[in-house]
Amino acid sequence: MKAKQAAADKAVEFIKDGMVVGLGSGSTSYWAIRKLADRVQEGLEIRAVASSKSSEELAIQWGIPIVTFAEISVIDITIDGADEVDPDFNLIKGGGGALLREKILAASSHKFIVIIDESKLVNTLGEYPLPVEIVPFAAELTLKKLEALQCKPVIRKKDEKVFFTDNGNLIIDCKFKEIANPKEQSEILSSIPGVVDHGLFIQMTDTVIVGNDDGTTRFLNKRN
Ligand code: 5RP
Repeated sequence: MKAKQAAADKAVEFIKDGMVVGLGSGSTSYWAIRKLADRVQEGLEIRAVASSKSSEELAIQWGIPIVTFAEISVIDITIDGADEVDPDFNLIKGGGGALLREKILAASSHKFIVIIDESKLVNTLGEYPLPVEIVPFAAELTLKKLEALQCKPVIRKKDEKVFFTDNGNLIIDCKFKEIANPKEQSEILSSIPGVVDHGLFIQMTDTVIVGNDDGTTRFLNKRN
């Protein structure tokens, strides 16, 4: 917990008065929202867009002004967690099921800061099952198409019930042996009708902050 909080606190140092901030989802983003709320209490003036209903609820509860995309055209900085980060800064995201909104926020941001602990660093993506968001219509057919990509697709459940995203879609967790070429895999997945989006974030960030249990942080260096 300390590691995630340390990474989150470091990322929030980038936030300045007047900025529009994208709020990620998950347990690391929780700490970023918490820290932002503290700074808002101290007088920081920001507006925020949330990537999930749960992050929006936290922000509102803690006094961070929330706006919609109708009120802004661009986000200055989005801070979000990740499930895996490779040496080229490709990511797997969506462990919390918010990948679609998270990707919209990341793609609309001048800067996208990823906050993680050491456990998220991998040489090759794919140990973590890749979340793929699909529309419920013809789900069985889409599942077969995913299966044909040499992965083991499982419909996500929560509390023994089928999990629905904030967008009313399903999440299919796809366990690959490995994702050796994330860009190619991303394009293949995006080309399947019925797939709304997936958790591969290809080269969307240049800033990854790793937190440690002793409260220290480091900025990760990209391979190339
Ligand atoms: C949610 C996400 C999260 O950022 C990701 O799952 C990491 O979560 P955590 O910070 O709890 O480890 O993508 O959809």
